[in-house]
Amino acid sequence: MTRVTIVEVGLRDGLQNESVILPVEVKRRIAEGLIRAGVKEIEATSFVHPRWVPQLADAAELAAQLPREQGVRYRALVPNAKGLERALSTPIDEYAVFLSASETHNRKNINKSIDETYPVLAEVVERAQAAGKRVRGYVSTVFGCPYEGDVPVSQVVRMCERLIEMGVYEISLGDTIGVATPKKVKETLEVLLRHIPAERLAGHFHDTRGTALVNAYVSLEMGIRTLDGAFGGLGGCPYAPGASGNVATEDLVYFLEQEGIETGIDLETLCRVSVEVQKEIGRPLSSKVLQSVIATWSSVGKGES
Ligand code: HMG
Ligand code: MG
Repeated sequence: MTRVTIVEVGLRDGLQNESVILPVEVKRRIAEGLIRAGVKEIEATSFVHPRWVPQLADAAELAAQLPREQGVRYRALVPNAKGLERALSTPIDEYAVFLSASETHNRKNINKSIDETYPVLAEVVERAQAAGKRVRGYVSTVFGCPYEGDVPVSQVVRMCERLIEMGVYEISLGDTIGVATPKKVKETLEVLLRHIPAERLAGHFHDTRGTALVNAYVSLEMGIRTLDGAFGGLGGCPYAPGASGNVATEDLVYFLEQEGIETGIDLETLCRVSVEVQKEIGRPLSSKVLQSVIATWSSVGKGES
């Protein structure tokens, strides 16, 4: 393995879980910083209902202001036909549909049963593809649900197969509340990989219990080559109690580069983005690598920025 693709979800998964609502121009500056750091895949926002996630209510405005750069692709969550109409009027490059492997979280998150959700997503995928857009799928609560606990892997397999049949090109497996451990990731992937090829799967690990990085490592060992991360370790689903940050992109980049695996992302430049975000949201971010880089800068007199 020589290279891993990191999908940077901080602008979406990170900011959706913050009480501070950042202005559009700050989000645009974050995107500029991410591009300077070499990030190519940026999940920038969501076309969900603005009342459900007010932090991302500026989705269309932000999409219109994002810096365009060769090779950089912007993504956004699209929950339904209304969200698709909003997204299609913007220059966002590709979309992601999402649902949960557990009934209760699906209902709390998108106000529908799982069975009611399939036709909604199928319509989004079909119309998006007709408009020339690729669509990714997310399955949430793959490794456990905040309301129901364990989720049968057979349910995850069925859901992934349905999403592939709809036409999604990749499925990101969400450990929404960060309950997974390496044994669970391995057991789940062993079953899933009998049905879905590794190149169509991605890992989306939240770090609620400090296991995200080790889970990412196990998925790499099992053949996964795309991992989601959020700058500084921001993140969490507002409709999943107890969910906290994603694996920090800084921690992923540091770890992968030390293992001799390229990410194309420059760690120090990325840390500068997170330093700005810390100032904007008024608290230190959780990434250990970020905090150690900041400490090193201070000790060599480079300051925080
Ligand atoms: P609903 O209230 O059931 O929607 O919400 P509805 O279809 O009944 O429509 C009600 C009204 O909302 C209508 O307006 C619609 O037009 C409007 P009215 O006719 O009453 O004036 N409406 C919309 N307006 C703007 N944009 C839309 C939209 N849809 C309907 N897209 C809905 C259903 C899905 C919209 C809502 O439940 C919602 O927005 N949920 C999103 C929750 C969310 O964003 N959660 C976090 C993202 S998922 C996540 O974080 C997990 C992930 O990271 C992976 C992991 O970690 O596991 C991806
Ligand atoms: Mg998430």
